[in-house]
Amino acid sequence: MEIAATIEQVRAQVRAWRQKGLTVGLVPTMGYLHEGHASLIRQSVAQCDRTVVSVFVNPTQFGPNEDLEAYPRDFDHDSNLCQSLGADLVFHPEASEMYAPDAATYVEILSDMPKQLCGKTRPIHFRGVCTVVSKLFNIVLPDKAFFGQKDAQQLAIIRRMVRDMSYGIEIVSCPIVREADGLAKSSRNTYLSPAERQAALVLSKTIFMGQDMVQNGETDVHKLTQAMRDAISREPLARIDYVEAVNAVTMEPVAQIHGAVLVAMAVYIGKTRLIDNFLVEA
Ligand code: PAJ
Repeated sequence: MEIAATIEQVRAQVRAWRQKGLTVGLVPTMGYLHEGHASLIRQSVAQCDRTVVSVFVNPTQFGPNEDLEAYPRDFDHDSNLCQSLGADLVFHPEASEMYAPDAATYVEILSDMPKQLCGKTRPIHFRGVCTVVSKLFNIVLPDKAFFGQKDAQQLAIIRRMVRDMSYGIEIVSCPIVREADGLAKSSRNTYLSPAERQAALVLSKTIFMGQDMVQNGETDVHKLTQAMRDAISREPLARIDYVEAVNAVTMEPVAQIHGAVLVAMAVYIGKTRLIDNFLVEA
């Protein structure tokens, strides 16, 4: 497995693969890899001849008061995991390799889509995500790119960007990977104290409760999300950012569970903001 720090190295390697007629999969990550990331890498290795994993904590998607500096990093662990999973190339650039000091070009969806859900408290987040993913697409030129359903709004936004910008890349969505007790795997779980780790179970428990309500026939979004909010409110360490049901494609709020609906939440456990969701298929 090769490790590349420069864009040129990646381009040269991918060019050589293309000349042999090989297909290329891309798994974009911010590192501190866990089983959730591993499931994406496994999918890419299974579906593509060659797999590129990018490990880059992207500064443009963090707001001024967010955790860019504190974001956990462990590149040795990440590159070992990528190798053991059969990845062929890890792209691990410095921020200066990705962004010139006077970089001023962004990829941004100008509909309400990136303003819903996480966009309400993270106004520049999805512009940063679209910009860096767009750059990674241009650098790697993959046939397929793999994203987790854990970040459902990000996935929907990337799909829209690919359509609007005619990227011609197949976006593959991978299911949420959870700890044995239900908590969705996240690099940010490392911020939790033991008491907070216990309290964080309120997210997945509430997701499972909501899923049961829908399976048992609940279609009224107000009743559903109110029951979910009530459940979260009973956990003293939890503070709700949002609990919402939206159209799974457009991210617009819905009043009834009808068609493909995303039920998503962001909840602070202490100072740590965690997200979780479930999808109701059409
Ligand atoms: P990061 O949070 O590292 O996540 C990288 C990918 O792993 C995303 O597609 C995310 O949805 C997926 N993932 C994370 N936890 C998961 C879980 N528990 N189950 C399944 N998939 C999971 O998302 C980002 O990085 C960045 O925004 C990025 C797209 C790399 C752009 O900087």
